[in-house]
Amino acid sequence: MKTILVTGASSGFGKATALHFAQNGWKVIAWARRLSSMESWRSELAPELQNLVHLSEVDVRDLSQVEAAFSALPSAFSSIDVLLNNAGLAAGKDPVHQGLIDDWERMIDTNLKGLLYVTRTVSPGMVTRGSGHIVNIGSIAGKEPYPDGNVYNATKFGVDGLTTGMRMDLAKFGIKVSQICPGMVDTEFSEVRFHGDREKASAVYHNMTPLVAQDIADLVWYMVNAPKHVNLADVLILPSEQASATIVSRRG
Ligand SMILES: NC(=O)c1ccc[n+]([C@@H]2O[C@H](COP(=O)([O-])OP(=O)(O)OC[C@H]3O[C@@H](n4cnc5c(N)ncnc54)[C@H](OP(=O)(O)O)[C@@H]3O)[C@@H](O)[C@H]2O)c1
Repeated sequence: MKTILVTGASSGFGKATALHFAQNGWKVIAWARRLSSMESWRSELAPELQNLVHLSEVDVRDLSQVEAAFSALPSAFSSIDVLLNNAGLAAGKDPVHQGLIDDWERMIDTNLKGLLYVTRTVSPGMVTRGSGHIVNIGSIAGKEPYPDGNVYNATKFGVDGLTTGMRMDLAKFGIKVSQICPGMVDTEFSEVRFHGDREKASAVYHNMTPLVAQDIADLVWYMVNAPKHVNLADVLILPSEQASATIVSRRG
């Protein structure tokens, strides 16, 4: 039985992926700050599947929390086959001269430093075992900048660069490194971006059909179950009505 570690598993892509893998017989390690949200979705699983899910309250921005959660893993969960570096956020959407420094710090600390802390902690075991797969959640925002995207764009361009660099470092150890770059997906993402303003958040998806978190979970599943010799290294996944970061057909 294989094991996946999912960061940011309390909502959105992370929650959908953790549930999908548990329902399909994988052991799942789920990390996020909101333990109660993860306990809630785990409790909805069939009783025999609940034992396959190990939860920890982890803020990926804090290296000591990452290391402590990793060290505390029960032996049945300690050999990690797949790492899904998903925890992340956009905070704010302002021109650079008006951006909030606190938003910038949170994005850089979570999307880049958090991803690095988790990777640095988990990847040595994969190297020792000579196998593993790391999937980073990038974004279309890491392929093309858009107005007022500035620092979020920079963090996801960083993930894009890191994914390639990590692949260069780790391929020789039998470790695949991949990236998923979604366009618009309806999760808590926009509500977090607009600091809890639900009206602004729902306007993002007005008159168009966004992807849903399960679409990303399905892609992760496909990616990590590809044959050993196949690496889907970089996948851009968009709603059909989205043509680029800024071009969306809103026909209702
Ligand atoms: N939705 C989109 O349109 C979209 C498009 C492209 C890329 N993405 C990327 O996809 C990833 C997942 O986003 P989502 O759409 O699923 O949004 P979401 O519903 O807001 O989920 C984000 C997850 O990240 C976790 N997280 C945030 N900060 C964290 C921290 N410091 N430590 C640990 N966990 C943390 C959150 O958990 P806690 O709050 O409980 O810690 C939550 O589980 C992000 O990297 C995002 O940038 C999203």
